[in-house]
Amino acid sequence: MLKCKINDKEIEVPEGTKLIEAFKLADQDIAHYCYHSALSVAGCCRLCMVDIEGNPRPQIACNTMVSEGMSATNQSDSIKETVKWGLDFHLINHPLDCPVCDQAGECELQNQYMKFGSGYDSEMAEKKVKKNKVVDLGKEVVLDSERCVLCSRCVRFTSEITRTNELGIFNRGDRSEVGTFKGKPLNNNYSVNTVDICPVGALTSKDFRFNQRVWYLKNKKSICTGCSTGCNVKAYFNEDGYFRFKPVVNQEINGYWMCDEGRKVYKSTNKENRLMGYELQYGDACSKEEAFKVAQDLISSAVTTALVVTGQQSNEEYESIISYFKETLNSEQIYHWHTTPGKEDEFDGLLMRGDKNPNTKGLQKILSEKGLGKDVSELSSVDTLVVVGPENMTHVKDLKAQLEKFIQSQNVIWLGSALVEELKEMAHVKLQMPLRTYLEKTGTFTNHAGQDQKVTVVKTVNKQALALTDWVQLMQNQEVQQDQGVKFPKVKTNFFMDDRGTV
Ligand code: SF4
Ligand code: SF4
Ligand code: FES
Repeated sequence: MLKCKINDKEIEVPEGTKLIEAFKLADQDIAHYCYHSALSVAGCCRLCMVDIEGNPRPQIACNTMVSEGMSATNQSDSIKETVKWGLDFHLINHPLDCPVCDQAGECELQNQYMKFGSGYDSEMAEKKVKKNKVVDLGKEVVLDSERCVLCSRCVRFTSEITRTNELGIFNRGDRSEVGTFKGKPLNNNYSVNTVDICPVGALTSKDFRFNQRVWYLKNKKSICTGCSTGCNVKAYFNEDGYFRFKPVVNQEINGYWMCDEGRKVYKSTNKENRLMGYELQYGDACSKEEAFKVAQDLISSAVTTALVVTGQQSNEEYESIISYFKETLNSEQIYHWHTTPGKEDEFDGLLMRGDKNPNTKGLQKILSEKGLGKDVSELSSVDTLVVVGPENMTHVKDLKAQLEKFIQSQNVIWLGSALVEELKEMAHVKLQMPLRTYLEKTGTFTNHAGQDQKVTVVKTVNKQALALTDWVQLMQNQEVQQDQGVKFPKVKTNFFMDDRGTV
């Protein structure tokens, strides 16, 4: 460890720490646009200026390593003046269209100018260089060139993280603009991370832009269930539902990033894609009481009963429903439905995995501990089949064909959170019962590497829906306390690490 003084505060930092990181560790604000903890140092915004004791000239903190006994400050009058000028320089050609900018409310240009800036000079509102306001960079991202401060974070992201090299900075001086190389749109699977790391409102996500003002949204940490990686995210929501996911830093799981596909998982949790109520055959609505009566009758009158599960529910829910089948119903017919067959071992080298089920590992562990679990292809006709359907249907290809292979039983009870139109055409499906999504319950998910991660209730979209544990209790006529979800067993969890450094 190295001892150093930051704005007169004595701290110790690990060897190899950059001075700008030492400022963050010492809880001292420091202006910066181009520096990002996960990218190489560009040193181009010149905002992170500091005075270092014994050094005659100001230095940039992002390109200076801390050494033993170093004393640095950004509180001297000359540094404050330098940073003010730097910020003014970045604003010279900025359009200042904050009222219509999607980044307003979470913009580092606004935040840093309020903290370190000089107060805007109205003469600067004149004579701005005009640039393209709407540049379609690819499937997911739009650029407003006038707002760009040329920090080059987005360019470094595509060259250092995805190594797809779609972006560059073209032209010179105040004509410089970010753009894509000819015939190479920004279509990599991680493109929206450029929007997250853009410190201003220059890059916006097509999915989110103009949808909501960020100050009308709340957010809470959770995970992405788009594949078996389990990236840590913040889910943004209001009373109408969920609007976006953004990655949360967890160096052991997803680093700083998440994929574009995972960002869309929130859609499967909103009303328009949900099974909102209890439905009898062919989509006829019924009450919860009626539905449980039908389910209990179908199960108690059956000689043979089987359960099909995917890897999309929590460990606690699997424990509960599998024990119910094994111990209460005396059925060992429990089958694992791999919804992405043959893709389990695929990995793109960064984050995305071919197994689109977030808890395959957890399910397999529970099944093998109980000596159960066959592949769904081994299922033959039983009297009553209970299927716990996938939460996120987007990756399930040829759903009808997949279902027809194993839904041959006389009576099928479908438990799921997703709206599945195909089920209405299937005569064997006697009953559909709505489940909570993972954003509406507590529980543990085990990712591809065996890391346990807890989820807690973020916001309940469907109040009728139940966690599987509640379903099991109601089937046994036990009382459940709504919104309780499941009790946490004592597991060692790899819960969210800090998200320092995302900006
Ligand atoms: S678009 Fe954003 S991230 Fe890219 S160079 Fe401009 S300001 Fe930086
Ligand atoms: S890599 Fe997997 S877990 Fe991570 S964001 Fe993408 S789909 Fe979600
Ligand atoms: S020069 Fe240090 S953050 Fe930009």
